[in-house]
Amino acid sequence: MTLTGKNIVLGLTGGIACYKAAELARGLVKAGASVQVVMTEAARHFITPVTMQALSGRPVYTDQWDSRISNNMAHIDLTRHADAILIAPCSADFMRKLVHGAADDLLSTLCLARPSTLPLLVAPAMNVEMWDNPATQRNVAQLYADGVTRLGPAAGEQACGETGLGRMLEPEQLLQALEAFFSPKLLQGKRVLMTAGPTFEPIDPVRGITNLSSGKMGYALARAAHAAGADVTLVSGPTALAAPAGVRLIAVTTAREMHEAVMQNVPQQDIFIAVAAVADWRVAAVSQQKIKKQDKDTPTLSFEHNPDILATVAALSSPPYCVGFAAESEHLIEHGTAKRKKKNIPLLVGNIGHQTFGKDENELVLFDEQGHHALPRASKEALAITLVAEIAERISKRISSK
Ligand code: C5P
Repeated sequence: MTLTGKNIVLGLTGGIACYKAAELARGLVKAGASVQVVMTEAARHFITPVTMQALSGRPVYTDQWDSRISNNMAHIDLTRHADAILIAPCSADFMRKLVHGAADDLLSTLCLARPSTLPLLVAPAMNVEMWDNPATQRNVAQLYADGVTRLGPAAGEQACGETGLGRMLEPEQLLQALEAFFSPKLLQGKRVLMTAGPTFEPIDPVRGITNLSSGKMGYALARAAHAAGADVTLVSGPTALAAPAGVRLIAVTTAREMHEAVMQNVPQQDIFIAVAAVADWRVAAVSQQKIKKQDKDTPTLSFEHNPDILATVAALSSPPYCVGFAAESEHLIEHGTAKRKKKNIPLLVGNIGHQTFGKDENELVLFDEQGHHALPRASKEALAITLVAEIAERISKRISSK
């Protein structure tokens, strides 16, 4: 049982789904976990601390100013020995508080003060219109970017009589999700180095050459690898994206900087995933001053080759498992098949570059020693999770065939 001996802080916020939290607390205790319940004032309108204390077998905390803890710092003490915080039910308002770093009651303060390594999971529960509201959806996206794990919600009939997304997962489903969360992960113990985004090659101090890569696919993959238990280092060119939580981000600008950061970090890595759209050439003579506009003449730029980062890593004497990406504009199958062999890598992920750059969805083709197969159109987040599973499977086959 993966929950045996785990210390879980179970936070309850306002919502009718609090009645399910009672059964959840009971299930957690039965599974061998220690459960420390913390309730907001709104939660106490739906269920009493007495019920939660009886089921969890521990006094419930509700107040920031609770004097039972000797140093009076419940918001610190309650999380320092915890293995996870689970907020179930998590109201729309509590999601807002998490997004904004609110600290105006014990539960929000405790979430804000939690160690960065302590996982926070939320099980949203609310009316379908509240869930669909753009404000809530913005908060859902931000919590994802902040590395918060979301469990649910489910769709179905709601206590208010309406139907749709917003029901809290059933206690049994939450227990299973928590067990899965604590089970050994697909990339547990693996070290993953990645590149993502475009590079920017300067022409002069104010101009440069870049491409349309947004970094979305690479960042989604970094998150998925981290969620799968990997220790992830992401070397990223300039993007407008927030750093994925829990991932070591090294920000670079040019291909040469990206190359240097990769070569510095590549020893000891198990996997290298090159998602970046690296500029093939850089301007040979970068002007130190802004090139002045001439009435008649246009400047002539000459170029030099940039290092091929992926090919360099693949050519190391004992390289990590290398995964490349290929953004093609036509003949994806022919070009992808040829490129994987040319780069001498076990796995190449192909896509039609100009159709995917900047978008939230993608359609991929995987090329490996066996041939190729397609991953149908889906969100980049979903594809990233599938890709992590594909990579993990190939690595475990390699290890078992050695
Ligand atoms: O040869 P092409 O640029 O199409 O190959 C794409 C793959 O090679 C991607 O995985 C990309 O990240 C990687 N690459 C690289 N360094 C370069 C060019 C491409 O790592 N200079």
